[in-house]
Amino acid sequence: MRRIHSRDVKPGMTVASDVFALNNQLVIPKGVVLNNKTISKLSFYSVPFIQIEDEIINEETKAPQTYHEKVQNDPQFQAFKAKFEQEVDSFKNQLNDVVNQNEPLDLDSLLERSNNIVNSAPDSIGILTLLSNMHSYDDETFAHSMNVSLICNLFAKWLHLSEDEINKATLCGLLHDIGKLTIPGNILRKPGKLTDPEYTKIKEHCRAGYQILRDNNIDPHICNSALMHHERSDGSGYPLRLKDAQIDPYAKLVAIADVYDATTSPRVYRGPMCPFEVISIFERDGLQKYSPEYILVILENIVNTYLLETVKLSDDREGQVIYINKNHLGRPTVKIKDVYLDLSTTKEINIVEII
Ligand SMILES: [Fe+2]
Ligand SMILES: [Fe+2]
Repeated sequence: MRRIHSRDVKPGMTVASDVFALNNQLVIPKGVVLNNKTISKLSFYSVPFIQIEDEIINEETKAPQTYHEKVQNDPQFQAFKAKFEQEVDSFKNQLNDVVNQNEPLDLDSLLERSNNIVNSAPDSIGILTLLSNMHSYDDETFAHSMNVSLICNLFAKWLHLSEDEINKATLCGLLHDIGKLTIPGNILRKPGKLTDPEYTKIKEHCRAGYQILRDNNIDPHICNSALMHHERSDGSGYPLRLKDAQIDPYAKLVAIADVYDATTSPRVYRGPMCPFEVISIFERDGLQKYSPEYILVILENIVNTYLLETVKLSDDREGQVIYINKNHLGRPTVKIKDVYLDLSTTKEINIVEII
């Protein structure tokens, strides 16, 4: 172990003892392998010296090429991914038994599937980052349902809901697309553009899911989430074209998680969309379509996840997200060397990638 000045630390070094700020707040726990974000925290909290392990450079994290490669090479991510896939397999078997064999729907054991994954998520990588790095499984209904469940769980915590409400929101996410099990696989997994009749068929998954859940005497909020997660507050959704006050609050939460997952998950034809781009889309179109009491809190928390990250801008410069602008959450202030660029007033430049 040796003590070095904060200005001399490099990505890949391992922290040998807990690092505290002047107010005794824990800044970086012992054992963390430093990256650009954690190194930035040292200057942010004015930490002058830290203890590091003697190995100095961890080869695995020494020179990762992209943000996604960094995450995907992390052993903690790989362990999480293995757990995720194991639980999704169990979830898939359970749900198929419900739909095909008329087995009863066991909510406690379903909730355990989601909670096992939440509990296996490493503290150092946020759940949204973990999910946006999953490459296999990406278009499958089951992995998507699990993603939405985990995102609902996170959003419900951000909204300070009670433990019972958090569990219910987690189940609403997990079961929101259960009706898709009644839609023919050739339509569901069709790679090209859907015809109008095929699209109409897919839309039936909302009512079909509601019926399956009602037949199993499931909590009405969970049934409503299956029925109403494609409804929008301005009446532009389906199947019933409901307006804000008519939509179940749990379905409103699922709607945001559903769209967030669909846009940030990698697809065969594109990589994952940059979270700042997704936030800008929600800010531009979303305020009329989604519940205002949820969407602003959620977007602010998503952006905070990326504070101090290094980003690439549309003019190819690189900088660090240094200040979140509450009126333009998708357009924070970025520090480029010694220049502070306020993207809320520099509309021609965007964040295109987290690196
Ligand atoms: Fe759906
Ligand atoms: Fe969905």
